Amino acid sequence: MKIIFAKDYEELSKKAAEEMLAVIRSTPDAVLGLATGTTPLGLYARLIEDHKANGTNYDRIRTVNLDEYKGLPASHEQSYAYFMRHNLFEGLGIAPEQTNIENGMAKDEAEECARYDALLDAMPRDIQLLGLGSNGHIAFNEPKTPFGSGTHVVSLAESTIKDNARLFASQDEVPRKAFTMGIRHIMQAKRILILASGANKAEAVFKMAKGPVTEDVPASVLQLHPDCTLIVDEAAAARLA
Ligand code: GLP
Repeated sequence: MKIIFAKDYEELSKKAAEEMLAVIRSTPDAVLGLATGTTPLGLYARLIEDHKANGTNYDRIRTVNLDEYKGLPASHEQSYAYFMRHNLFEGLGIAPEQTNIENGMAKDEAEECARYDALLDAMPRDIQLLGLGSNGHIAFNEPKTPFGSGTHVVSLAESTIKDNARLFASQDEVPRKAFTMGIRHIMQAKRILILASGANKAEAVFKMAKGPVTEDVPASVLQLHPDCTLIVDEAAAARLA
């Protein structure tokens, strides 16, 4: 795993934008694997700024998202579909037809997971962007998820429900389940870019990058990927020094 150190969140977002833009500019029909969460927000804002300032073209770009809460329609303000439209796609002029995400309202879970697995196999990602859960999760692959997993429905860990409650009116409103891309498909991406910011990620960063590769720390699997870059700010890198 290649590690890039950034001073703070600003610098992390700038470096992440450089990495993403290198792919977008060299591969105009790239498939981008995208993530939600607060960590990529600075990167997304920079991509929008760049699009407005330099006209970087997204007409042939296609996107695939990692995960979606079960039971939230795409119109719900806390759904990841809404998050992506609001924080990235509208700003880049990316049409809904260019994007893919699990359907949180799908009645038949198995059918929805099979649909997404087939889509992922047919659309290899040129780059997969990831955030990191404070318990070492990637997407919603919580500790002990088998490395070979495909798309599945997870019961969120208590710590994840707590972490994500800040984005809801109350902790009770956080959905308890979610669809997530599995670790097998995350690892299929040609390149992986994982971002971690803030002191609450320091322990997970250390275990991911320097600890044993174990299903107890889902992100540790990234040590096995041939082209994975981690960008960390000083606070998140505290235990690496
Ligand atoms: C959520 C998402 C993950 C994300 C993680 C970290 O649980 N499913 O994809 O990486 O939270 O979020 P944040 O960037 O807000 O710390």
